[in-house]
Amino acid sequence: MSKPFYITTPIYYVNDRPHIGHTYTTVLADVIARFHRMRGEQVFFLTGTDEHGQKVEKAAAARGITPKQLADEVVANYHELWKRMGMTHFRHIRTTDADHRAQVQQLFKRLLDKGDIYKATYKGLYSVSDEAYVTEVQAKELQAQGLAHQLVELEEETYFFRLSAYQDRLLKLYEERPDFVQPDFRFNEVKRFVEGGLQDLSISRTSISWGIPVPGDEKHVIYVWFDALLNYLTGCPANGWPPDLQLVGKDILRFHAVYWPAFLMAAGMFLPTTILAHGWWLMGEDKMSKSKGNVVRPDTLLRFGNDALRFYFMRDMQVGHDRGFSFEGFMDRLNADLANGLGNLASRTLSMIQRYRGGVVPMPSVFDVSDQEVATQLLQVFPEYLEKARANDFHAALNALWTYLRALDGYIVQAEPWKLAKDPANDPKLDAVLANLYRALRATALLVAPVMPELAQTLWESLGHTSKVAETTFHGFALDGPAVGPIGDPKPLFQRIDKEKELSDLETGAGAEVHRRPGGDDPKGASQEVKREEAAGPVETKPTLDVPEIREVVDADTFFKVDLRVGRILEAERVPKSDKLIKMKVDIGLEQRTIVGGIGKAYEPADLLQKLVVVVANLAPRKLMGIESHGMLLAASDNASKPYLVAPPADAQPGFLVK
Ligand code: ME8
Ligand code: MG
Repeated sequence: MSKPFYITTPIYYVNDRPHIGHTYTTVLADVIARFHRMRGEQVFFLTGTDEHGQKVEKAAAARGITPKQLADEVVANYHELWKRMGMTHFRHIRTTDADHRAQVQQLFKRLLDKGDIYKATYKGLYSVSDEAYVTEVQAKELQAQGLAHQLVELEEETYFFRLSAYQDRLLKLYEERPDFVQPDFRFNEVKRFVEGGLQDLSISRTSISWGIPVPGDEKHVIYVWFDALLNYLTGCPANGWPPDLQLVGKDILRFHAVYWPAFLMAAGMFLPTTILAHGWWLMGEDKMSKSKGNVVRPDTLLRFGNDALRFYFMRDMQVGHDRGFSFEGFMDRLNADLANGLGNLASRTLSMIQRYRGGVVPMPSVFDVSDQEVATQLLQVFPEYLEKARANDFHAALNALWTYLRALDGYIVQAEPWKLAKDPANDPKLDAVLANLYRALRATALLVAPVMPELAQTLWESLGHTSKVAETTFHGFALDGPAVGPIGDPKPLFQRIDKEKELSDLETGAGAEVHRRPGGDDPKGASQEVKREEAAGPVETKPTLDVPEIREVVDADTFFKVDLRVGRILEAERVPKSDKLIKMKVDIGLEQRTIVGGIGKAYEPADLLQKLVVVVANLAPRKLMGIESHGMLLAASDNASKPYLVAPPADAQPGFLVK
């Protein structure tokens, strides 16, 4: 039996919950994995989390919990997300897993014995956010890009990996294997970097304790990147090696295209076939990232369905390039391609087969020129799609398929089946049209199954199948074969999104713009962002404090009559015709409340979602612009500034009494 197709994603840091950037890579891997299964291959798909290192240590310390506790919490988020999204990985590897730790130590020891690892002193700059030493030149580059978040000076005794010894072998590899890194323009960057000369790589730290200890010298922990890269090896099942395809964001290509093959060469292992570096989802000009505080969480988009997000990712992002995210673009794409495009075509076709042929798909007897043209186009677009998908270019594959689907609309308009149906003399032509449309939809269900597993299955069943479309293989599929039986119940494929409503509702902030709020739930990220903005733009002068005198004394009993609760904002929307008022639904543990707050100048509704707040729960209801408000949110401010919502710590629960 041939080797399984082995595909990997990066393993994600656990210093934060996943955003759609992380989700994108794993969706891409899952789409490719499903595609290869439908090519009849066995597939190993590995994803996971990178849990050691200073970033995680710091994030945990900031929360007052251990790194492992933080990791467990974030990993639970990942598990839940992957499950909800139907990901088909066979393992989510964690670098804290015992089998991984043991194998990393073994390999470290082996390379040490062999002389590829040696001990010496390092002195220089270190980037905490990248978990890497940086040269002076790199430090300048980073600063210029606004990416030098946390550079620190370090001098420490460390173990080095003899990377310099692999420069020639790497260059030879790049020359011999033109597909080792995709896309080409990224491969060129890698080559130029290696041609510029390689220094030995420090692969241990004494300044950090959260990591895998160096065997026999336990005050050192193994450098996170050495630890992390090896996950692909330690997580690989017996007959899977080497990886066929390793997906990474362009941010971490150097680690994968330079260090990683060098480690494997030193270990005497086969190298991966292809490292594919995709671009970034951007917000405006910036990379969407935790440290910039401009992220969109998958939850925001998943309420339109798992398939919707998967389709958007595949259809809109050209692998290798960057792509700006916008909520409006997201909705436009889905409405145009799924609600209109495919959804419309499917419902028209199925209802015509129902109405004119009692649900039985006709076998055509003659094709005229236009029928033949449509049939020929299907014969072309099917292999074209497969070829593009095989090259991991789902953007182009879907583009070709949707161009074909659009052409079918023209075919229907021209044939006018509703007129044909009026005269039995036209039966052969009507049969041809219905059969062609049916075949196009059947092929579409098959082709899009890796991208939209649920939608494809719904369509497949509407077309009369009782089998699983995902268990059908592309190879040898008879595009002109007869239908398996009468068509099933037509079900709508995609619920049209009411864009106007969504936009005026709450999701505006998740779209093209992210509004920064005072404080926020990421104080470190936010303050960094503010600093950068100040450096770039006009300096905001700090207004002098304008606060009233302390109010008159009340006794404790009076104070304790006020019922203060922790609440979580579930929904938020602006009150029409008011720039100040926001109407919210707030979960206060025992019940959900409608609360109208005068915070509309300081906050965007989207920024409020899921925020923890303190609610005055026993305040008499009052009407604000016709809406009854049941409570109030505590906010801090002076007479001059905007209100800052008072936020309980992230692990407080709705319903907690504030006292
Ligand atoms: O780098 N657009 O983890 P990480 C597209 N632990 N993809 C994005 C993205 C964006 N805006 N933001 C993140 C690490 N990603 C290391 C990897 S591997 C041995 C160790 C995706 O949590 C993209 O795949 O910072 C990127 O490479 C990855 O998340 C980085 O995740
Ligand atoms: Mg990162």
